[in-house]
Amino acid sequence: MNNLLVTGGCGFIGTNFIRYLLSLAESGGKQGFSGRIINVDKLTYAGNPDNLSDMEARYPGRYHFVHADICDLPAMEKIIDDFSIDAICHFAAESHVDRSIVAPDAFVQTNVIGTFHLLELARKNSKRIERFHHISTDEVFGSLGEQGFFTEKTPYDPSSPYSASKAGSDHLVRAYRRTYDLPVTLSNCSNNYGPYQFPEKLIPLMILNAVAGQSLPVYGDGRNVRDWLYVEDHCRAIWQVMTAGRFGETYNVGGRCEMQNIDVVEKMCDIIDRKIPDKKIGSRRQLITFVKDRPGHDRRYAIDCAKIEKELRWQPQESFDTGLEKTIDWYLQNKAWVQRVQSGEYQQWMDQQYGGR
Ligand code: NAD
Ligand code: DAU
Repeated sequence: MNNLLVTGGCGFIGTNFIRYLLSLAESGGKQGFSGRIINVDKLTYAGNPDNLSDMEARYPGRYHFVHADICDLPAMEKIIDDFSIDAICHFAAESHVDRSIVAPDAFVQTNVIGTFHLLELARKNSKRIERFHHISTDEVFGSLGEQGFFTEKTPYDPSSPYSASKAGSDHLVRAYRRTYDLPVTLSNCSNNYGPYQFPEKLIPLMILNAVAGQSLPVYGDGRNVRDWLYVEDHCRAIWQVMTAGRFGETYNVGGRCEMQNIDVVEKMCDIIDRKIPDKKIGSRRQLITFVKDRPGHDRRYAIDCAKIEKELRWQPQESFDTGLEKTIDWYLQNKAWVQRVQSGEYQQWMDQQYGGR
C-alpha cells in the first residue's frame, strides 16, 4: 500500500484513523505504514478539515487532502488516476440515525451510490488496487433481545434508513468479491466514542450540555443498550484487518462493554461534576430529561468479536472509564473546535428541522 485513499477522513473515525496511521510510522512499529494518504472528503456538516490541518507539515509528502464527493464519479476517477491509488479505506458516509429519519435521501446517495461508485472504480483499476476495506456498523444486524450477541453470521435486519443504507453498501461490497473477485474486507463495529466526534451523538452531546448546564435528553426509558468502543481501538482493528484480514471476510469489532444509555449519561454527569463543579448547576444528574423515543429505536447492540480476537489478535486496550475520562478532557480542552463545528451549516439545519436544540 503506497497510495492509500481514505474517504471521509475529515469525520470522527476517519480523522482518528489518519492520525493513528501516520503516527505508527513515527513510532517505527513493525506494522507501520510508509506510504502516503490521500484523504477525500466532501466536507458535509460532519467533516472538518481543521482536524488534520497539522498533518501536511508534520508528515511532509505523506498526507494530501482533496475536497470531493464520492458520488462524483469523474472526480473520483481522476483522483484515483492522479494519485495512483493502490488501496482504499472507505469511511465516508452519512452516519447519524436521527438525521436519516428526517432526511434519508443523502444516506442513500452517499452510503449506497457513493460506495457503488468506489467499487466500480476499484473494479476498473483492479490491476493496481490491492485492497478495498469497507467500514460498516453493527446496526445492520438490527436489534438484540436481552440475550445473545451479533456474530459475523447474524442475518441483516436493519431498522433505520441509516442502517438500511449501510446494509445495502455491505451487500454491494460482498457482491463485488463474489462476482468480480475484488480484494475486499469489511469490518462491522459497535458504537465509538472519543476525540473529534460530532456533538450530535450521545456522548459528546451530553458532555457539552452537561458542562453548559443544559437539559440532557434521554430517549424513551433510557434502557437501550450500546456496546462502547474507544475510537483508537477501532482504528487499530481496521489497520489489522487491512494488513492481515482475509479477502472476502467480515470482522466484527466491539468493546465487550455493554451499557444502558442512562448509566452512560449518569456516569458522565458524575465525572463532569467532579472536574468542574458548579454551584449554580448543582448535580448534573438533575439535568437528565426523558424525551420521546427515537422511531425504530434498536433496543440492544452487543458484538461478539471472537473472530478478530482469535484470527488477528486484536483486543480493545482502553476501558470505558479511562476512555470516557480522556474524551471528556478532550472536549473541555478543545472549545474552539466545538464552536467551529456547531456553527454554520449545522446550526442552520438544527434550526430548520427542530427549531434549534
Ligand atoms: P462522521 O459523520 O463523523 O464522518 C463522515 C465523514 O464523511 C465526514 O467527514 C463527511 O464530510 C464525509 N462525507 C459524507 N458524505 C460524503 C461524500 N458524499 N463524499 C465524501 N465524503 C463524505 O462519521 P463517523 O462516525 O466518523 O463514521 C465513519 C464511518 O464509520 C461510517 O461509514 C459509519 O457508518 C461507520 N461507523 C461509525 C460508528 C460510530 O460509532 N461513529 C460505528 C461503526 C461504524
Ligand atoms: O452502533 C454503531 C452506530 O453507533 C454507528 O453506526 C452510527 O454511525 C453511530 O451514530 C452510532 O449510532 P447510535 O444511534 O447508536 O448512536 P447515538 O449516539 O445517536 O445514540 C446512542 C444511543 O443514545 C441510542 O440508543 C440513542 C440514545 N440517544 C442519543 C441521542 C443523540 C439519546 O438517548 N439521546 C440523544 O440525544
